[in-house]
Amino acid sequence: MNIIRVSDYTSMSTKARDMVIDRISNFSDMVLAIPTGNTPEMLYSLLVDTYKEEKVSFKDVVTFNLDEYVGISPDNPQSYSYYMKEHLLKHIDIRRNYIPDGLADDLERECAEYEDKIREEGGIDLAIMGIGRNGHIGFNEPGTNFESLTHVVELSEDTIKANARFFPKEEEVPRRAITMGIKTIMNAREVLLLASGKEKAEAIKKAVIGEVTEELPASALQRHKHCTFIIDSDAASLLKNW
Ligand code: PGA
Repeated sequence: MNIIRVSDYTSMSTKARDMVIDRISNFSDMVLAIPTGNTPEMLYSLLVDTYKEEKVSFKDVVTFNLDEYVGISPDNPQSYSYYMKEHLLKHIDIRRNYIPDGLADDLERECAEYEDKIREEGGIDLAIMGIGRNGHIGFNEPGTNFESLTHVVELSEDTIKANARFFPKEEEVPRRAITMGIKTIMNAREVLLLASGKEKAEAIKKAVIGEVTEELPASALQRHKHCTFIIDSDAASLLKNW
């Protein structure tokens, strides 16, 4: 695990932008897994700026959303589909993008087909993600089996509370989601995790120097062969000797 410490959120985003552009420029046909949330917002805006300056093209890039809520339509501004279009996809020349269909009649089949699509696209080259305060990655909550592929999850109370800030009322936060599994993420050729802020410090400490355990999903990444964490000084504040 490669840990890159930076001073603040802006430096984290800039460093991540440089890494993503480097991969897109140096490898053809990149397949990215991409997250939602506050953490990657500036990364997306910097990628859009770089595209508008004609310094990068996404014409050979395919993206897969890490996750999506169950039960809300892609037109709903709270959906991850909507988020991704607004923050990134509608601004760039992306070749193709895939987002799990949270309205599918048969959710199990939707999950299996998502895995098929990842395989058909040649697998994920770079999986980008944030981390939850409880150590989740994607929507893989504590206790998720490390062997899990894309699946339906019940969101934890902690995650529902954390995400309530995006909804008019906490009751409106969906209780279920579709997420890539831990194994889907571990199968990516490279992983990039971003974290900023003191509220992530405990999860980062456990993910980096704690026991590898299903109780802390991000700890699985200690076993990934090509994984980088870019973390700002607040998120790194409990990593004393690193
Ligand atoms: P955040 O969410 O980027 O909004 O903090 C990260 C996550 O829950 O994975």
